[in-house]
Amino acid sequence: MAATILDGKEVAKSIRAEMTNEVENLKKQGLTPGLTVILVGEDPASHSYVKAKEKACQEIGIQSEVIRMDASISQKELLETIERLNQNPNVHGILVQLPLPSHISEHAVIEAIRPEKDVDGFHPINVGNLVIGQEAFLPCTPHGIVELIKRTGTRLDGKHAVVIGRSNIVGKPVALLLQQENATVTMCHSRTKNLEQLTRQADILVVAVGKAHMIGKEHVNPGAVVIDVGVNRMDSGKLVGDVKFDEVKEIAGFITPVPGGVGPMTITMLLKNTIEAAKKQALLPNGVKG
Ligand code: GUN
Repeated sequence: MAATILDGKEVAKSIRAEMTNEVENLKKQGLTPGLTVILVGEDPASHSYVKAKEKACQEIGIQSEVIRMDASISQKELLETIERLNQNPNVHGILVQLPLPSHISEHAVIEAIRPEKDVDGFHPINVGNLVIGQEAFLPCTPHGIVELIKRTGTRLDGKHAVVIGRSNIVGKPVALLLQQENATVTMCHSRTKNLEQLTRQADILVVAVGKAHMIGKEHVNPGAVVIDVGVNRMDSGKLVGDVKFDEVKEIAGFITPVPGGVGPMTITMLLKNTIEAAKKQALLPNGVKG
């Protein structure tokens, strides 16, 4: 039987409708959640992601600002900008769009953001809290993936989840979140042997590699929930995932399309983190800890 398509756009729309109400209520109480995104350089994919984030903020009433910087900017200048935003009580969330030019240390930049404004969930403090199961800003794509899976009605408890890809942004944190939901998690990566043998055992298969069409129906356990995180632009200009959607949808239980699956959920979780950041900071003197 053909899979149910997991429409991330629809799910995101309903969550964002709830958030619009929440932002409206916060504004009535004098609190306008604010997000500042820093975009360095001219990477076309980053530009389009940032535009989508800005639009989503505007739609639900979050105050958003994009600081665009030339690719030649020094790391020092970037760190000074971040520090200025750390001190600004109207900015509750700071996001530096990755990747950065090679002369800038991503690690140094992420560490410079105050953990309570790190709405990406990339700061080592937030990552560490996620690992030990303490309250943390959850990274947006992994969080969006788990929300999508839950909305299929699939219970994760005791299920076998296989994650392909071990990036800090998706693979590692999604494996942790799935484990926290009591799934048994197998992590696969570029050196994994017998990939197909492992993926065929998956009740839930998360593919986050960035290689167009690498997963076919031979990798998929019939009835599995297949989450495709890949966004690959073909020479034709078409966007495709890491999964051969047309053939896998014939045997999977649920499958996310690309585009329109995980992407809208990622942005939705960013909005959620920004609202949470604003609420937490509003309880603190001067808006920031320190
Ligand atoms: N580049 C690709 N995905 C992301 C993301 O989730 N956050 C940031 N900051 N940069 C990215």
